[in-house]
Amino acid sequence: MTLLRTEGLAKHFGGVAAVDDLALAVEEGEILGLIGPNGSGKTTALNMLSGFLVPDRGSVWFADENVTGKKPVALARRGLLRMFQTTRVFVRISAFDNLLTAGLARGLDEAEARERARVLLEELTLTPVMYLDAGQLSGGQRKLLEFGMCFIAPPRLALLDEPFAAVHPVMRETMARFIRRRNEEGHTFLVVSHDMPIVVELCDRAACMNAGRLIAIGATRDVLQDPVVIEAYLGSESHV
Ligand SMILES: Nc1ncnc2c1ncn2[C@@H]1O[C@H](COP(=O)(O)OP(=O)(O)O)[C@@H](O)[C@H]1O
Ligand SMILES: [Mg+2]
Repeated sequence: MTLLRTEGLAKHFGGVAAVDDLALAVEEGEILGLIGPNGSGKTTALNMLSGFLVPDRGSVWFADENVTGKKPVALARRGLLRMFQTTRVFVRISAFDNLLTAGLARGLDEAEARERARVLLEELTLTPVMYLDAGQLSGGQRKLLEFGMCFIAPPRLALLDEPFAAVHPVMRETMARFIRRRNEEGHTFLVVSHDMPIVVELCDRAACMNAGRLIAIGATRDVLQDPVVIEAYLGSESHV
């Protein structure tokens, strides 16, 4: 079943077509990778999928409901949740309290939230630092904490924007394992990443954007070997 799909999605910033006529489908139960050179429109697409940006044109459908233009909170309530490229945790309260707050905000009662928080801290290897202010955690630990906050009440579909960027390899592996486990439990992911080994490892399917357009979608290995995709990366300044 298709869980999320877009039709003719477009967003312009001045003269720049950040996303142009994007038709993308995420199947329930999969981990779909979204790749593409810097500036190809991946973050803008995620912003529209999650309600943080209103599209100029086109529509977004989640579980067969037209959710175009709905606010992030309304989408989160339906189980569509987005994690940011830069982490958003409360730095002046502890890692544990960040999780607790996230749990209460998502409708868990306090006992439930505490229990979930403890389990997640353990799985995310954050138990030793659970009472430190989140501001004292390393960048990677904060990202792990944000994973926990996102999954305190697991979303049906999680949109992740470069979760592995600038994260220590050990924590990257913790994140990848976390995503795989949640996926085995039935949760669906759309993961933007430049880390090709992780994309290959995690995602059976991948989509590639270039200059706002979808240029390839299919089995990850096929997409990575597609001459159009290779050309897009070679033609970009980033060479990632
Ligand atoms: N808020 C904005 N205002 C103006 N231009 C933007 C804005 N956000 C993104 N862009 C432009 O849109 C294009 C796509 O950006 P983005 O979606 O961030 O790409 P990616 O995430 O693939 O690196 C880029 O040319 C970028 O400069
Ligand atoms: Mg981006």
